[in-house]
Amino acid sequence: MSTQTSNLRPVTTYRLYEMKQHGEKIAMLTAYDYSTARILDAAGIDVILVGDSAANVMAGYETTVPITLDNMIYHAKSVTRAVKRALVVVDLPFGTYQGNSKEALASAIRIMKETEADAVKMEGGEEILESVNRILSAGIPVMGHLGLTPQSIHKFGTYTVRAKEEEEAEKLLRDALLLEKAGVFGIVLEKIPASLGARVSKSLRIPTIGIGGGSGTDGQVLVIHDMLGVTNEFSPRFLRRYADLHAVMTGAFENYISDVKSGNFPNEKEQY
Ligand code: KIV
Repeated sequence: MSTQTSNLRPVTTYRLYEMKQHGEKIAMLTAYDYSTARILDAAGIDVILVGDSAANVMAGYETTVPITLDNMIYHAKSVTRAVKRALVVVDLPFGTYQGNSKEALASAIRIMKETEADAVKMEGGEEILESVNRILSAGIPVMGHLGLTPQSIHKFGTYTVRAKEEEEAEKLLRDALLLEKAGVFGIVLEKIPASLGARVSKSLRIPTIGIGGGSGTDGQVLVIHDMLGVTNEFSPRFLRRYADLHAVMTGAFENYISDVKSGNFPNEKEQY
């Protein structure tokens, strides 16, 4: 048994805080379905993010904008049914928290009550602070998300690295400190210069989780379809592929098709 799987103590937001204080890195990946979440949890992942990237990799949308709260709740319920140890964080989708803080709280409450997840994640800083505060005051843990925030892609107009300029970098640091002061338990830093990722991480007591945020963040997150190589058309510099499932799946499908067509499947032992 690996050291990870033998450590069955459930991961809490406080445990993540302790990990940062002890210099222990945090491993986070996305999942959207029961079977994947079960494997991921048993492998010893610390945090599972039911990301709104489900819009891209599960539903085939170009952006994360179209996914709905009902869609996210469906994915989150499938994940929490599988998980025994990891902390499960669910993205609040676009349009469910930016309007006003009352609506934001109602969205977060639906996620917590209907999915039994542990926390919600929200994109943005000062602009969404009122909503963050209202959700936190209801006792719901919140994770922040700064840098390249994909729900704002129509404002950015590009998926390129954010906060390369001093002004945007300073705003990002200010937002991170504001979120920490409000009480969020961690912040995702997406696609920013490594030097800024390290600077923000050193300035905070709460953990940062990078995706294209460099090696100085307190943990890392990747979209599971990307790290498994299911998606083979997406190759940003920050992505390390741990498998080539696109090739494995294509090979299996081709073999199956050929076996069915040739009459090789099922054989004598595969029938009643
Ligand atoms: O939705 C998602 O998968 C995310 C990660 C990119 C952090 O927010």
